[in-house]
Amino acid sequence: MKIILVAGARPNFMKIAPLIWELRKRQKVAKSNKIEYLFVHTGQHYDIEMSNVFFKDLNLPYPDINLGVGSASHAVQTAKIMLKFEEVCVKHKADIIIVVGDVNSTIACTLVAAKLGIKTAHVEAGLRSFDRTMPEEINRILTDSISDYLFTTCKDANNNLKREGISQEKIFFVGNVMIDSLRRFQKKAEKINTAKKYGLEKSSYALLTLHRPSNVDEMDSLKEILEALKEISNYIPISFPIHPRTKKLIKKFRLNKFLDNGNSIILNNPLGYLEFLSLMMDAKFVLTDSGGIQEETTALGIPCLTLRNNTERPITVKTGTNRIVGNSRDKIICESMKILKRKIKKQFMIPELWDGKAAKRILNVLLS
Ligand code: UD1
Repeated sequence: MKIILVAGARPNFMKIAPLIWELRKRQKVAKSNKIEYLFVHTGQHYDIEMSNVFFKDLNLPYPDINLGVGSASHAVQTAKIMLKFEEVCVKHKADIIIVVGDVNSTIACTLVAAKLGIKTAHVEAGLRSFDRTMPEEINRILTDSISDYLFTTCKDANNNLKREGISQEKIFFVGNVMIDSLRRFQKKAEKINTAKKYGLEKSSYALLTLHRPSNVDEMDSLKEILEALKEISNYIPISFPIHPRTKKLIKKFRLNKFLDNGNSIILNNPLGYLEFLSLMMDAKFVLTDSGGIQEETTALGIPCLTLRNNTERPITVKTGTNRIVGNSRDKIICESMKILKRKIKKQFMIPELWDGKAAKRILNVLLS
């Protein structure tokens, strides 16, 4: 059995890692080369702090192949990945490729493999925001429609896939691989105390991440969010590791003044996995437009305000700690104040099968 695992962008690494740990384990037990795998990085993300830092943090081997595609428009980036990935598939003759998440690398590699007649497995299938203005929603729908194995994190996802006419035999509810990584490194992250490094005290700061095109590509929406940030930082310090895309746009729109509030807004470059996990675990609450962070905060029981009008991860709202607050200044401030004044319900439940064993279930299916 020859498997190609694909990662391309930051949120892919913590999803691929548990699959590689599990493959290594099974290779050792089998004591033979019956299971071979190749780890391919498309190079969609290439900055050290968006990519390389994760290999060490997550105990991942360096990729066997890096396609080095880098940034470009959606069409150019997707096309470049396809051209280069096709060569890899033709040369290495895999039986199956595994893709994760919803980034451009996910759809590009799935499309190549499907057309070459190679079986494809999509980990984190079936999530839907029902908002087709998001590039990720297009990537999700297309990837799922041509994959052979669809591994889901929750039952909502199974229902979405069934509604789209995908046959039940292809769908496997296995849990959440990203939570496999979180559970494995939670203790290690606890010891790091990133908050202290940045002069923050446990449970006395908010943590912000921001990079969605719908929030940062237009000056008006970015300004609304930064205005809210500045106001909230009068009540609680905010740690803000800035995504390169957001950094560039803040500069372009000349919005830097909103980030200047004495020591109350702490700006950083993007952080590694362990440093960020540590900051998230110790935060009073998190403000984010990321998909994965909605899930990680639910697994950790940390309140999360999602700065979007929808989520493809409704389970984090239904049973977890997430609230969808949109991106208007007043609403963001109002919801943050509710948390500071303890007006938010505290009960939450860890979703079913988010137990650190998702990768094991996936490989049980694929290798059986
Ligand atoms: C991508 C994913 C998004 C995911 C996010 C996590 C798609 C469509 N989007 O968005 O789903 O949540 O990754 O970060 O695949 N850049 C750098 N260095 C890097 C990478 C990017 O400077 O290492 C800058 C470039 O200027 C680039 C911009 O960020 O143009 C956007 O990068 P891109 O990979 O196109 O999308 P993300 O916004 O990172």
